[in-house]
Amino acid sequence: LEVAVDHASLAALFRRILLASAPILSGGCFSTSTNTTGCPAGEMHRTIVVAEAGDGGVDASIEDLLARCQASATDCLPLCERALSSTTSPNGQIKGCSLVTVDGGLAVQVAYTPVCLGGRRPEGLAPGLPCGDPSPLGAWLAATAHLEAASIDAFAILAAEIEAHGGPRPLVRAAHAASRDERRHANVIGLLAARHGVAPPAVTLTRRPIRDIESIARENAVEGCVRETFAALVACRQARAAGDPALGAAMAGIARDETRHAALAWAVDGWARGLLDPAARRRVREARRQASEALVAEQALPSSPILRRQAGLPGEDEATRMAEVLQANFS
Ligand SMILES: [Fe+2]
Ligand SMILES: [Fe+2]
Repeated sequence: LEVAVDHASLAALFRRILLASAPILSGGCFSTSTNTTGCPAGEMHRTIVVAEAGDGGVDASIEDLLARCQASATDCLPLCERALSSTTSPNGQIKGCSLVTVDGGLAVQVAYTPVCLGGRRPEGLAPGLPCGDPSPLGAWLAATAHLEAASIDAFAILAAEIEAHGGPRPLVRAAHAASRDERRHANVIGLLAARHGVAPPAVTLTRRPIRDIESIARENAVEGCVRETFAALVACRQARAAGDPALGAAMAGIARDETRHAALAWAVDGWARGLLDPAARRRVREARRQASEALVAEQALPSSPILRRQAGLPGEDEATRMAEVLQANFS
C-alpha cells in the first residue's frame, strides 16, 4: 500500500486528532499513578524474529551478529540492540537478551526500558543520562534537549546518505534544513532545561560509514515515519496545552518544524522504497509495523500528572488513542 503523506495532509490529520481530544484537553484527567520523568516507565519485553524458518530468511546485515550470538550466549547483546533498533528506539536500555526458537525460526527475546520521545535518533547514539533528575519538568527538558541534539546528527547523516545514493536534491536540501531546525530546538530546549537547573547530557555518537539503502529505509521508517511523526503530533498538543508559558511558546515553533520533518520522513520513505526489491520493501514495512505497535504499547505506561500540566503531554489514554489513530492512518 502506497501512502501519500505531505505536510498539509499531516497538519490536517494532527488538527483532527487534537480536536477529537478537546474534551480531554479541558477535562483535567489527572491519574494518581505516576512516573515523574515523562518517559515510559518500567521494563518492556519484545520477541523479535531474526531468522525465519527455512532458508533466505536472514537479513545479510545481521548474519554476523547472529553467528556471534549462536556461538556464545554472552555475545548476544549486539544482536538484540540491532533487532530492537529496527523496531523501536536504539537507545532503549537493554536489560535482558536471549536467543530462542519460534516456529522453527530464531528470535531474540529482549527486555528493555524505552527512552523519551522528542527527536530522531541516529544509529550509534549512546544513551543519554537516564531520565529522572531534579524536577520532573527539568528532567524532561534535559532528555528532550539531548534527543533534539541527536537529531542534528541524524538529519546530517540522512542528507549525506541520500546524496551518496544519488537521491533527489530537494530531499538532500530538506534534510540539511531539518538538521538546522534541530540545532535551534536543541538550543531552545537546552536553555529551558538550564533554567530548571539541569544540563542536558552531551550527545555521543559513533559515526558509521554510508549504509545500504535498506538500512537507511528501515531507520527512516522507524524513527521518521513512526516516531518523529508521533512526536510531531505530541508537539502540536504541547503547543496548545503546556502550562509552562515559555515551553508552550517554544513548542509552537518546534511543532511546525517537526510536522515538516515528519512529512520529510514520508518523502524519504517513498524515494527509498523505489530502490528496494520486493523482499526488502516487505522487511522495511514489517519494521515500521512493529515500531508502530511498540509505540502504541509504550503509551499505555503511566505518565506524570506534573508533566501533563506543565509540559502539555497527553495522559496514557489519550496518548494511546493518538498513537492508534496514526497507526490506523498509515498502516
Ligand atoms: Fe526537533
Ligand atoms: Fe525533528
